[in-house]
Amino acid sequence: MKSFYITTPIYYVNDKPHIGHAYTTILADVLARFHRLLGVPTHFLTGTDEHGQKVQNAAAKHGITPIEHCDQTVVHFQRLWERLGITNDDFIRTTQQRHITVVQKALQDLYDKGLIYKTSYKGWYCVGDERFFTEKDLKNGRCPECGRMVEEIEESSYNFRMGNYQEQLIKYIEDHPKFIQPDHFRNETLGFLRKGKLEDLCISRPKRRLSWGIELPFDKDYVTYVWFDALVNYISAVGYLSDDETFKKWWPVNYHLIGKDILTTHSVYWPTMLMGMGVELPQTIFAHGWWLTNDEKMSKSLGNVINPMDMIDKYGVDAFRYYLIAAMSLGQDANFTEKLFNTRYNAELANDLGNLVSRALTMLDRFNGGFVPEVTIDEDEASATLRKLCKEAVDTTPVNIDNMKLDTALATIMNAVREANKYWTDQQPWVLAKEGKKEELALVIRNSLECLRLVSGLLYPVMPTKMTEIRRALGIAEEAIAPDYARLQNWFGLKVGAKTTVPPPLFVKVKYEEPPTESLPPPAKKAKKEVAPVEMPPCTIEDVGKVQLKTAEVIAAEPVPETTKLLKLQLKLGDEQRQIVSGIAQWYKPEELIGKTIVVIANLKPATLRGVESNGMLLAAKAGNTLRLVTIDGDLPSGATIG
Ligand code: ME8
Ligand code: MG
Repeated sequence: MKSFYITTPIYYVNDKPHIGHAYTTILADVLARFHRLLGVPTHFLTGTDEHGQKVQNAAAKHGITPIEHCDQTVVHFQRLWERLGITNDDFIRTTQQRHITVVQKALQDLYDKGLIYKTSYKGWYCVGDERFFTEKDLKNGRCPECGRMVEEIEESSYNFRMGNYQEQLIKYIEDHPKFIQPDHFRNETLGFLRKGKLEDLCISRPKRRLSWGIELPFDKDYVTYVWFDALVNYISAVGYLSDDETFKKWWPVNYHLIGKDILTTHSVYWPTMLMGMGVELPQTIFAHGWWLTNDEKMSKSLGNVINPMDMIDKYGVDAFRYYLIAAMSLGQDANFTEKLFNTRYNAELANDLGNLVSRALTMLDRFNGGFVPEVTIDEDEASATLRKLCKEAVDTTPVNIDNMKLDTALATIMNAVREANKYWTDQQPWVLAKEGKKEELALVIRNSLECLRLVSGLLYPVMPTKMTEIRRALGIAEEAIAPDYARLQNWFGLKVGAKTTVPPPLFVKVKYEEPPTESLPPPAKKAKKEVAPVEMPPCTIEDVGKVQLKTAEVIAAEPVPETTKLLKLQLKLGDEQRQIVSGIAQWYKPEELIGKTIVVIANLKPATLRGVESNGMLLAAKAGNTLRLVTIDGDLPSGATIG
């Protein structure tokens, strides 16, 4: 391999980074570091996606300009990457001039070639979602996303002739099995492409609706569609149309790492754009699965996002990186819970690896002041077994990494560590010491240290800080701390007589405690509901005045996952939109509720039910086993006050 270029998605700056973003970036970092260890010139790119409606809206909400908003939020990503030990060689922001220039040149080039054309578009527009829908997308004549009214709009736009490339792309994917990976995502893309005619892609947005974007060089009334802008980062950052030498050095990219959410944009839009530009296609687009909590995708709106920062504070950056790489089989989804994390941390890092380091170096310190001993006797069978498993780890790691089996790579390495612990216990070096069998003792210690040298080298891309500590403690010279793969292929690689030290515990055990579970509607309140009205004490007009009732229109409803009673409703209260969780699933189907005008207590303190935020409470009447919602007699807009 002459060079290695790897990218992550560029993340939206309307959100703070969460574990999903951290994951893809750590994965890219591990791969980049591993290729550096192999001595391959490596370029690792990450960055942020800063244009588009969401950013424009978020900025407006905070009363600042879009670029001010970007400048503020990009820092969260950059700080987190620093903290996570990410060694990206470049960080691209789509608002940088170096990027904007290339996007405009590329657009102009496609326009000049006749691959972008003006057309007019008729469709149904949802103002709330700022999206177009076709007639058949609509649900009961309303927005399929949010249930609001839609308006019919006709406007001009620019299309990219994506459809031209359907056959060419199918053939390319068929001829290049590594182009989209893992295979099930390759098949998914092929399925999509073979299903029907590939449409052209609308690549413009009128400025009067969206101004926060890159202006089309051939029509200043439009900006370009955010994906057409974002995808180009992968080439604008490495010299496309600006620095041929750099571009030739890195392109085609070895890996575009992405989550499966953005497979189509990468496996269909991007290749056809490149074909239009006449640029070579990426070697591999690699999609990974989701990190889930309790089998739900982590997302901000679900309120189940694990804050990576919390895990790092508690377990350390290296353990966090280790867990993410060890616990996800690439291409599949994986569950993230602190409990799983904790179990693995204590067993594999604190026990297996931490113990081996401390027992071997402590014994050496006692035996001869910590100097690496020379081996003067022949290897026995037990040593040969240990050496064999270590060699297997060294030999298979590059292969596993090449096949994107990082979990298997780590398992094989940890297998060698477990064998070394077994070897230690079986050989009973403390007995050898007592019996004065110095040569045998030297062999046991030395073999254990050599195993640690190899293992710390192999694990260095995953846990750079802790492996540096181990390698220093082993007496490895400063210039060889960052390992060189070639040197991991020899067994006796430590220098005889080098001074080792006993490091402080590397991975301190952490006791896991179940977090208190969030209770559903507090029992006291529930009991109160059942009480017959006559038994309530009298209230005053002031008491009534404390409760603000309003009309609300239900614009969307869905069950709260893993519950049988709760529905999550999106309500419109005049200009305001809010979410309420309500225990009415037994009585109402979500779709029955859409469009109803109901009554809610608007000033109830927000609460979280099963991790979902609820902002208010709806009114319903109950008799025996029947429940009916309180609704309004006649037509009233939502947000009307009731009193
Ligand atoms: O889509 N598990 O940006 P984005 C694993 N700007 N990975 C996850 C995840 C989860 N639960 N959640 C997010 C965009 N990710 C565009 C990309 S590229 C030219 C433009 C990761 O901020 C995963 O890599 O929504 C996913 O593809 C990415 O974050 C989406 O980040
Ligand atoms: Mg996203």
